[in-house]
Amino acid sequence: MAAVDSDVAVMADDRAGAGARARLDALWRTGTEFLGTRYAILGGAMTWLSERHLVSAISNAGGFGVLACGGMEPERLAEEIDATRALTDRPFGVNLITLHPQLDALIDVCNARDVSHIVLAGGLPSGGAIERIKQGGAKLICFAPALALAKKLVRSGVDALVIEGTEAGGHVGPVSTSVLAQEILPHVRDVPVFVAGGIGRGEAIAGYLEMGAAGCQLGTRFVCATESTAHPAFKKAFIRGSARDAVASVQLDPRFPVIPVRALKNAGTERFMAVQRDVAAKVEAGEMDQAAGQLEIEHFWAGALRRAVVDGDVETGSLMAGQSVGLVKAEQPMAEIMADLVDQACAHLVQAANLS
Ligand SMILES: Cc1cc2nc3c(=O)[nH]c(=O)nc-3n(C[C@H](O)[C@H](O)[C@H](O)COP(=O)(O)O)c2cc1C
Repeated sequence: MAAVDSDVAVMADDRAGAGARARLDALWRTGTEFLGTRYAILGGAMTWLSERHLVSAISNAGGFGVLACGGMEPERLAEEIDATRALTDRPFGVNLITLHPQLDALIDVCNARDVSHIVLAGGLPSGGAIERIKQGGAKLICFAPALALAKKLVRSGVDALVIEGTEAGGHVGPVSTSVLAQEILPHVRDVPVFVAGGIGRGEAIAGYLEMGAAGCQLGTRFVCATESTAHPAFKKAFIRGSARDAVASVQLDPRFPVIPVRALKNAGTERFMAVQRDVAAKVEAGEMDQAAGQLEIEHFWAGALRRAVVDGDVETGSLMAGQSVGLVKAEQPMAEIMADLVDQACAHLVQAANLS
């Protein structure tokens, strides 16, 4: 496995000048030291996609893979961690959703297996969850949706933050990556901050590093890695998709909240609008109560990501994707994707140095 890593390094070093590589290494040193990797590039956890093969491929290529626990039971998570370890001796992390009913048991699984880094997603973590993770010795990474919350998380003992803009794939907040970066990076210096959302090329990585980021997290760009087990039809939709096709779900009626999720438009997107219209009309006519209507809307996408990623149902499944999907042009081995990103980051740094 180490051979794969050094091959990538050689590939990147061959293409970029030693000066640019040294500058890049200096810029993301906090990130690489925190993660224990060659590159401060995290593969953001993606439910159904970030399993043993994709995660180990990212780590073997010099980045930091993160397993997506999603709705897994503790025993399944244990199995997946062990299986990933069998494929890489490099560091990787585990992403847990705070709303999971068995969160404590999942943390215990990570602690028992000496998982080095745990990412808590899906809302602000409770003090109990933070405590449990810290007692196990893992480094804790959390998402900060605003500066005040970033500061609060740091005070609570979180070891690093991810700031993720609305350009990202999957569940999204309302603020763009560039604005979050300006809001948070100058003011949070105590812990490494990783920037995510809409990053598909190395120039953007270098740009955020120059603004003070410790590294970047990418999801969409890694979906079409050769090692990714996503269904060929899912990958094809990504290769065809443009930035403008990756839209956040729309809420039609203020009475029925919709959690914003960014995904490629398909027949399911159209159907979701029709269901919302239908529910609103039924509630208006007194044929359905409000709670039943909300439930119907919330259940619409249940199982839809799995249908798309695993079964290849690209018509009615959920094609969660970020706006950087337009930068995904082909299926590529992970080592090549990583080398491209490093190469582009170095090219940007060379150009910037010439100008100054
Ligand atoms: C298909 C898909 C599934 C995702 N699932 C999760 C998840 O389970 N947990 C999580 O924290 N983030 C999830 N994300 C967000 C990614 O971890 C990552 O932060 C995001 O993709 C970064 O933005 P980008 O897509 O623009 O690169 C998902 C993203 C995608 C595209």
